[in-house]
Amino acid sequence: MRDEIDHASAHGAAGGDVHSGIDRGIHLHHRDFLTDAANLPDGSIDLIVADPPYGLGKDYGNDSDMRSGDAFLDWTYGWLELAIPKLKPSGSLYIFCTWQYAPEIFVFLKRRLTMVNEIVWDRRVPSMGGTVRRYTSVHDNIGYFAVSKDYFFDLDPIRIPYDAVTKKARSRKLFEGSKWLELGYNPKDVWSVSRLHRQHAERVDHPTQKPLEIIERMVLASCPRGGRVLDPFMGSGTTAVACARHGREFIGYEINADYHAIAEKRVAQTRSVGVRVEPLPAEEATATAAVDQANAA
Ligand SMILES: C[S@@+](CC[C@H](N)C(=O)[O-])C[C@H]1O[C@@H](n2cnc3c(N)ncnc32)[C@H](O)[C@@H]1O
Repeated sequence: MRDEIDHASAHGAAGGDVHSGIDRGIHLHHRDFLTDAANLPDGSIDLIVADPPYGLGKDYGNDSDMRSGDAFLDWTYGWLELAIPKLKPSGSLYIFCTWQYAPEIFVFLKRRLTMVNEIVWDRRVPSMGGTVRRYTSVHDNIGYFAVSKDYFFDLDPIRIPYDAVTKKARSRKLFEGSKWLELGYNPKDVWSVSRLHRQHAERVDHPTQKPLEIIERMVLASCPRGGRVLDPFMGSGTTAVACARHGREFIGYEINADYHAIAEKRVAQTRSVGVRVEPLPAEEATATAAVDQANAA
């Protein structure tokens, strides 16, 4: 994944977005998405990254993850019905869930959207004994759905570079000039990324914080630069951080005041080191440099 840092903040610009009526920037709401969704205009969102309570009884300092079975599924269908109309025709949605409920949730979504992928997040959980009555579960299921077949998807920023050995091995005439050899390969649908341990530098005080690497991949591939991302259950604000780093607008909701405060702090820290941007194609870069120069004058 690209890692350039640019100190020209894409979120410095104030003012409304003429298309949606929403102010530009990163908006972290300490509010309940289900009661607040009506305030968000339909068709205003490029990408939804939803990492909701999984129905497994986690303690988020509230009772939001205490539903199970049909009650959990009805609650899930309820917020999805609120969220889906917010997407633009080119928009898409990632939803994190577990094998226990993924079948029902995916069937529900397939009736409303186009299923693009099921991504398996292999959390790289080490072997430590555990259950002897079945296989140990080490993955989360992520459904990737789009409003239509014309959904936005940009593979280039998330390509994975080939290592030197592979490049050398493919240096025969047959592979010469192969675009993919230079650009890297496209990620597969199994993402092997370690869950965040207590000792991890990225880790904050949230029980199910997602690794930034995973959310950044979603944002870079599925939201155009300058586009808007919605996270209805933002927790510690990982999606907001990804948006701040990569020049995307963001709207997120969180009902726990402590997590909301953590998200605000993480976004402020991200802004203090600047916004990451992907390199532009040459002609676009020249035009942008001219604008930057004019702004600086
Ligand atoms: C799985 S966690 C999200 C973790 C997040 N992706 C991160 O990386 O930190 C789900 C979060 O949703 C919040 N939540 C639950 N119900 C909510 C609601 N109705 N509106 C907004 N937030 C809610 C919980 O407090 C919890 O922090």
